[in-house]
Amino acid sequence: MFTPLTMRPRVLSGIQPSGNLHIGNYLGALKNWVAMQHGYECVFCIVDLHAITVYQKPEELRAKILEIAALFLASGIDPKLSSMVVQSMVPAHAELAWLLTCVTPVGWLYRMTQFKAKTESMEGSSIGDGLLQYPVLMAADILLYQAAVVPVGEDQAQHLELARDIAQRFNSLYGDTFVMPATSLPSVGARVMGLDDPTKKMSKSEKGSGHAIALLDAPADMRKKIMRATTDSNPHIDFETMGPGVANLLSIFQAISEWPDDQMKNHFSGMRYGDFKKQVANAVAEHLEPFQQRYNQIRQEPGYLESVLREGAGRVSPIANSTVRTVKQRMGIYTE
Ligand code: AMP
Ligand code: TRP
Repeated sequence: MFTPLTMRPRVLSGIQPSGNLHIGNYLGALKNWVAMQHGYECVFCIVDLHAITVYQKPEELRAKILEIAALFLASGIDPKLSSMVVQSMVPAHAELAWLLTCVTPVGWLYRMTQFKAKTESMEGSSIGDGLLQYPVLMAADILLYQAAVVPVGEDQAQHLELARDIAQRFNSLYGDTFVMPATSLPSVGARVMGLDDPTKKMSKSEKGSGHAIALLDAPADMRKKIMRATTDSNPHIDFETMGPGVANLLSIFQAISEWPDDQMKNHFSGMRYGDFKKQVANAVAEHLEPFQQRYNQIRQEPGYLESVLREGAGRVSPIANSTVRTVKQRMGIYTE
């Protein structure tokens, strides 16, 4: 019924082309995508239809889509192994989203933490219906490709549960159609916190200059932000009593270095905060310097990104279209 590209199980994930990608996006998502490319057949989406659930300046959005594509490649996504897709280039995403909207109780959507948090801060202004439907579109992204595994940061876990609920509901109404997608969270780095306030998730939309490390920040700025990161009143690292700021910096270091827990403990126990921060700053800046070089190189190749995105859309469209056809048939509506 569904045409597999290969026999490997499929992975799908996405990032919105809005704001500046930060180290939370990298450690929570991108870095793990790269690691999955050999074991899975991967589809990585630039989800522009999600981005427009809040107003985006058209020319900025257009530029962001290419920036994100270049960041995918700089992270190590290999377009020969994985399909890189702009969501709006494959109309089946929007079409399946509508079909799934019709089997999704609205109460499920009002319960979403992200919807509640986003709309709370918009009190008084008009809230676009797209913000409410957002997780249905995300479910469509995943179910369109019968993805078995979805690698995301922790903030997306609830949306993934909803995707499974929608799949289950569709299957029970219309017969077994969708694969249940599993959530894959990284063991370290699934929730990187703000450097200025380690009780808040690092977020693209937070404006404070000391809040996030953007992947394209100048290395000197990255170091400065880490040296100024909020810690606590202890003089040195104590793994038993450390506060969230220290725990956050440790997990950033560990996610980058991939050191096991005991090596982390042996190395950092008792270290003074100043020395510790220097080591975290070095690890981050040294990891991202070659990354930025790759990014700059990619940006200098005219037409290359566009060709990768065209090829990605061409490769996945038959799979997406075949899912939509099956879904329409099952629902009893018209297929050409
Ligand atoms: P978004 O920026 O909302 O498009 O998120 C893209 C990916 O990055 C998703 O998989 C998120 O779960 C992940 N992500 C976003 N912020 C963080 C964070 N602070 N820590 C870890 N992962 C994150
Ligand atoms: N909603 C996700 C986020 O903001 C992005 C996203 C859209 C996504 N579609 C997806 C993630 C499908 C995983 C799978 O982070």
